[in-house]
Formats: sequence, structure tokens, C-alpha cells
Amino acid sequence: MKDRILVRGGKSLSGSVWVQGAKNSALPVLAACALNGGVSVIENCPGLSDTEAMLDILRYIGCRVTVKANTVTVDSSKLKRWDVPRELMHRLRSSIIILGALLARTGKAEVSGPGGCELGARPIDLHLSGLSSLGVDVRYSDGTIEAVRNGTRGGEVVLALPSVGATENLMLYGTCCREGVTVVNAAREPEICDLGAYLSAAGYAVEGVGSAVVRVARGRGTKRHVVHRIIPDRIVSATWLCAVASAGGEAELINTPADYLASVSGVLSRAGCRIAGTEKGIYVCRKGRLRAPGEVIRTGPFPCFPTDAQPLVSSVLATAAGTTVVEENMFENRFSHLTELCRMGADVKLRGKYAVINGVDCLDGRTVTSHDLRGGAALVVAGLSARGETAVLDMGYIDRGYENIVETLRSLGADVERTEDRAIN
Ligand code: EPZ
Repeated sequence: MKDRILVRGGKSLSGSVWVQGAKNSALPVLAACALNGGVSVIENCPGLSDTEAMLDILRYIGCRVTVKANTVTVDSSKLKRWDVPRELMHRLRSSIIILGALLARTGKAEVSGPGGCELGARPIDLHLSGLSSLGVDVRYSDGTIEAVRNGTRGGEVVLALPSVGATENLMLYGTCCREGVTVVNAAREPEICDLGAYLSAAGYAVEGVGSAVVRVARGRGTKRHVVHRIIPDRIVSATWLCAVASAGGEAELINTPADYLASVSGVLSRAGCRIAGTEKGIYVCRKGRLRAPGEVIRTGPFPCFPTDAQPLVSSVLATAAGTTVVEENMFENRFSHLTELCRMGADVKLRGKYAVINGVDCLDGRTVTSHDLRGGAALVVAGLSARGETAVLDMGYIDRGYENIVETLRSLGADVERTEDRAIN
């Protein structure tokens, strides 16, 4: 969808927001619903273009899917296909997680490489070499992956880096292995724990999620009826924290465990925001001008500073007094929003994986373009504090990860609207 968001900056925010379920949990959990040959009821599932794309993949392979508000029911008893066409795979990055699910359920899979946001090279070598080392025959040529299981041996895979997606694919594959699959140097993100919780509820044996060694095995008996509730989205929470930090004002985020966000709230607190845990979630308040937090912001795997929050926080720091250095260690193309921010008057020098942000007094509204999901949201965050009107083009990226970004910001008092994309300048 080519719509744009118009933000008229300068309104401070106030109120409370309910935080949606986590996209990066919902997608692998939905892929996992293909495993049990029964019914999975997934609550708090965010209504996003990415979740819709994953549901289309499930429908294609023969699952019955019903969606009622934020509850999705997947019946995988009639699953009949092990192939997924390229046009479905290309709609999102997490489509690749269906590979582990199909191999575990049907013993084979024929899929293409995934799509998703352009954050630079996003290889899947660790997914494929991990499966291969477990005895799966994997052929990847011309963008098509053909994989066939040889028995259900299982074993140990040591990941060269703690890839979220590779950990998830190997966990799903582990569900068919009697001895299980042990992933060493596994990702430790909360979304991995959520996938582990779904798999446990479905009767598989799961150990170690949240640590660097995760083991998933077939378990004592698959449950044909599973109910699971998706955890809150920590990056969406970070977005609302940054919205308040940018616009000024105060808000309470309901349904957000504060410990998911420690690294992000730490930086915002040191920049001058007041952030505190409440009974229901997190309170944030920003009065007066922020200052540079006085540390290099280094992105890394959980529990380090999340790469997904980096664009949002850099938007906030673009107007904080002083200089901040950001080191992006996860993706090579995660500074594209900064080039757009410079068009709004930000003072940013880019050098490889480093961005040096010299805070300016104020940004000016301009027409800017989203190049990826979080970069797009970061431009909206910047627009909240900018003088005049900011138009953020290519909202389709933002729709991948935010259920109601415009409505939520409006409920906090921001002057934001969504319009059809047409030339206005
Ligand atoms: C997940 O992507 C998230 N997506 C991303 O969120 C997030 O930015 C990322 O993890 C890091 O936290 C989903 O969960 C759907 P990775 P994923 O495999 O699984 C390299 C958002 O905005 N790598 O942990 O694709 C890779 O290039 C999205 O919501 C390999 O080299 O991330 C990257 O540098 C964007 N080979 C690093 O590992 C591989 O086989 C981490 O990637 C796999 C990854």
C-alpha cells in the first residue's frame, strides 16, 4: 500500500496506550501451528500485513484459518502441501520459518528464499547448514530450496551467531526428532521464549529457551488443541516511548513488561526522560530538551540494544543536545532513515557501521520516504517534534509491523493522518 502519513509536529502527547501483540513472536508461532495436526488458538495476534501473509501461506498448504479480531484459529489437520510458491514466500522474511515446520510435519519442503524489509544482505545460510548438519538433504539453487528429511535423527547445531530465524527454524525441526535438536549459541530474544511456550503447550519437549542452549524434542504426545497468547511487542513499546521522548509529554504503556525494554529505556532515561515501571506497564515522561545519553549505542543480540529500536532512538537523539555515536552491528542497511532525517535538518555523519548524530535544536517537516518498517516509524517519530508538516511516504512498510500507528498516536493527542499517496509538493 502506497499511502502516506502526514504528521504536523509540535503537539505534546498524553494518555495511555495498549501495546499490540509481538509481530516477531506471532509469525514463528503461526508457522508452528502447521505442526500438530490439530487446532491452535492464537490470542493477541496482531493484525498486520505480515501476519496476513503468513496466514495465506498456512491456507495454501491446507490449513483452515479463521480470524476474529486478534484471535486466530489454525486447524492444520488437513495440511496437504509441502511447497510454497515464490509470490507467497516473498511477501515477508519470516516465511522461511515454514521450512522447519514443513520438514517436521511432512518430511519435505519446497520453498523459495524469503522476502522482507531491505536491510542489506540477509542470508539464510545458518538455517540451511543447520538443517543439513542434522541429516536433512538441502538443495538451494535459482532461489528455490528443496529439502528432504532423512529419518528423525536430530543432534546438536552450533550457530556461528545467535540468529533469531535460524534458532526458530531449528526449534521447529526439533519437534519431529525423538532425541531432539540442541541449538548452541541460540538467540535469546523474548520472542524465542514465546515460541518455546507455544511448543511446550503443544506437547513438545522444550528446554533452555532464553539461554544460549535450547533443546526441542518430540516429547511425550502432541496436543491436538492448543491455546496460546502472544507476548506484547517490545519494539512497538519502544516506538511509543520514543514518540513521547520526541514530542514531549507523558504516557503509560499498558501491557508492556519493563524488563523487555531495559536497554532502550536505559538510553532514553540517560537522555533525560523519566521512565518507570507501573502496575500495568511502563510510564514515560519527557519535559524540557533531551541531552545525548553520553554512551555509544551499540546494537546487538538480546539483551543488547535491539537493532529494531535503533532507528527510533536515533530519531529522538537527532534533537538532543550534544553528540551521540550509534554503532549498528546487525544489519548493513539500517541507517537509511538517517539520510531522510538529514533532509529534515538533522546533522548526521555516516561512516560504515557508525552514525555520529549531532543534536540540532529542531527538525523541519519535509516529504520523506520509508525504506523499511522501523525506519518508516522512526520518520513518523521525528515528525512529531518537527516544525510544520512531515509526509512519510510508503506506509506499506509501516503496516508490516504496526496495527494502528495513526490511531494510537492520535489517541495520545498527536496531529497525524493517513492519506492516499499523491504528489502534494
Ligand atoms: C529477526 O530477523 C527479526 N525478524 C528482525 O526484526 C530483527 O531485526 C532481527 O531478528 C535481529 O533482532 C523477525 O523476527 C521476523 P537474524 P532475523 O537471523 O531472524 C545474520 C523487524 O523490524 N544472519 O537474527 O532475520 C543476519 O544477516 C525485523 O521487526 C546470517 O549471517 O534476524 C544478521 O546480520 C527486521 N546468516 C544477523 O545474523 C543467517 O543464516 C541477525 O539476523 C541468518 C542470519
